[in-house]
Amino acid sequence: MCGIVGCTGSAPVKDVLISGLKRLEYRGYDSAGIAVQKPAGPGGAPAPDLVVVHRVGKVAGLESELEHQSIPGTCGIGHTRWATHGRPSTANAHPHTSCAGDIAVVHNGIIENFAELREELIARGHHFTSETDTEVLPHLIEEAYEGAPDGTGAEEATHDLLRAVRRAMRRVVGAYGIAVTCAQEPGVIVTTRKDSPIVVGRGADASYLASDLIALIDATRDVVILEDGECARLTPDGITYYDAAGKAMEPRITHVDWDLDMAEKGGYPDFMIKEIMEQPRVVRDTLAGRMVGGELTIDELGLTPEELNLIDRVYVIACGTSYHAGLIAKNLIERWARIPTEVEAASEFRYRNPIITPSTLVVAVSQSGETADTLAAIRDARIKGAKVFGITNVIGSPVARESDGVIYTKANKEIAVASTKSFIGQVVSLSLLALSLAQAKGRMTTGEVRMLFREMGDTAEQIQWIFDTQEPAIEEAAAAMKDAHSALFVGRGIASAICYEGALKLKEISYLHAEAYAAGEMKHGPIALIDPGFPVITVATQSPVYDKTISNLKECEARGAKIIAVATEGDEDIKQIADHVIYVPRVRDCFTPITATVPLQLLARSVALLRGCDVDQPRNLAKSVTVE
Ligand code: M6R
Repeated sequence: MCGIVGCTGSAPVKDVLISGLKRLEYRGYDSAGIAVQKPAGPGGAPAPDLVVVHRVGKVAGLESELEHQSIPGTCGIGHTRWATHGRPSTANAHPHTSCAGDIAVVHNGIIENFAELREELIARGHHFTSETDTEVLPHLIEEAYEGAPDGTGAEEATHDLLRAVRRAMRRVVGAYGIAVTCAQEPGVIVTTRKDSPIVVGRGADASYLASDLIALIDATRDVVILEDGECARLTPDGITYYDAAGKAMEPRITHVDWDLDMAEKGGYPDFMIKEIMEQPRVVRDTLAGRMVGGELTIDELGLTPEELNLIDRVYVIACGTSYHAGLIAKNLIERWARIPTEVEAASEFRYRNPIITPSTLVVAVSQSGETADTLAAIRDARIKGAKVFGITNVIGSPVARESDGVIYTKANKEIAVASTKSFIGQVVSLSLLALSLAQAKGRMTTGEVRMLFREMGDTAEQIQWIFDTQEPAIEEAAAAMKDAHSALFVGRGIASAICYEGALKLKEISYLHAEAYAAGEMKHGPIALIDPGFPVITVATQSPVYDKTISNLKECEARGAKIIAVATEGDEDIKQIADHVIYVPRVRDCFTPITATVPLQLLARSVALLRGCDVDQPRNLAKSVTVE
């Protein structure tokens, strides 16, 4: 989520860092900062000091603050922070520094064992100034650098930043991409990563690093994408790379032939596909840090387990795609926590008189966090005495500010108007909420919660499997329906909610009329639409209602429908009824929305492209709907 840049050369780096951070703004962030080494003193003597400037707010604000400061240093690191541990504030903004102030670190990721490391470090006399997980890093590196006792028995000083970083990171559990600079080592930056990207490159007269290629593209097209555990040591004269065992290695240089527009899209032709492809990461990031010591933890709920236990009714209020995530939440909250749950379009909720008591929980779901109807519904619910919990993708958005508690989906900024990755982030977040409620109500054991949490995490790889194997099937299905005038999406149980989202995706970007129905409803009206060749898209994955879905599909087949089925890998029988089959991996029914929505997003995009539509900016639609 956070953005990282670093540069060391012979010219002042302040402006290079700021322009790199601006390139990373698209990721969404709440604060920004830089740390720059003070230039060497007279006679080349090192000036063991760093200038660190960090503040809450936009990069432009940081830039204006720096305008009035002379910062001639030629080696520095920078960061845009997307709050995870600790609220957005100047104290929590990176870079974070060691006690002596001579080591600065920027970090992207989550340190899962930060609480125990922080406690240990405080016991050994370290002083902390922020609430972040990141701040343990400069202190751990400081101990390794100075040879202070760190409880591991490896007490000798390294006085070598690279070795100190490597030693410190052995203590860390979690995900990280980091850049570190130390005033004692003029011109040196060390970077390493695990589960968080770091890209390194050599420009004409300086060495660069970033968490995203887009921040390097003006400096170089030849980059090295670090793998987990690898390190790089950057100096003004060059870069040395080290493998996970610490041995110097030859860099794997990737030549990037992208223009800026392509780089912003991660090399993809449009934002929609880039965002669809990010979904495995969204699953991982949304789950990261949620299982602490074997316990599901959602501190942001702002409710104690006792208060959660008292909740006897849930309303999910949302619009569009977020409303569809709400339909899935209803299924899961009722299934796992046995709390009656209603899902309502925010535009309707605000104008009726819903039954709300102090034990009602209202969950407001909004990618943008500024949808006018959802906000009005939140205000109304709070006046009526409900606790309101927000699920949004935008830090500090009105939905976040006006709710009693908030979960941020970890989708990063979504640019395509059609929501894709934010939907997956919402579904994962709502699943976590449903598990918390089930746990608080005593409806699920800790062991069951852990098992479901683990299986939810597995969907990241399962989505990747869909990308890797199903493209031809999706393209074939898209070609078969591109000239249709209308399409029906049908499914049963939780799959009906997936179908609503699939139909919305198709209509909003391809302008092909599409409706979704619970498959059992077909014979009560919609089946009249079916004539030979009419596309019926179904989610018919393995579930307790699979056979029922097949019966409904047979009714469509008998009338000549062209059936496109999303089915479970290995289901050969479905081919007897479906003209086109797109497979998804076998998952527990409750997690089908996380996997089976993905091929429907891809199908909608392919149909839209075949029909010559702009998939990122469909006509008549806006990304956030701030009017009623
Ligand atoms: O920002 P929100 O989640 O509150 O937005 C709600 C809808 O406007 C949004 O989901 C819309 O339906 C998208 N275009 C769907 O792709």
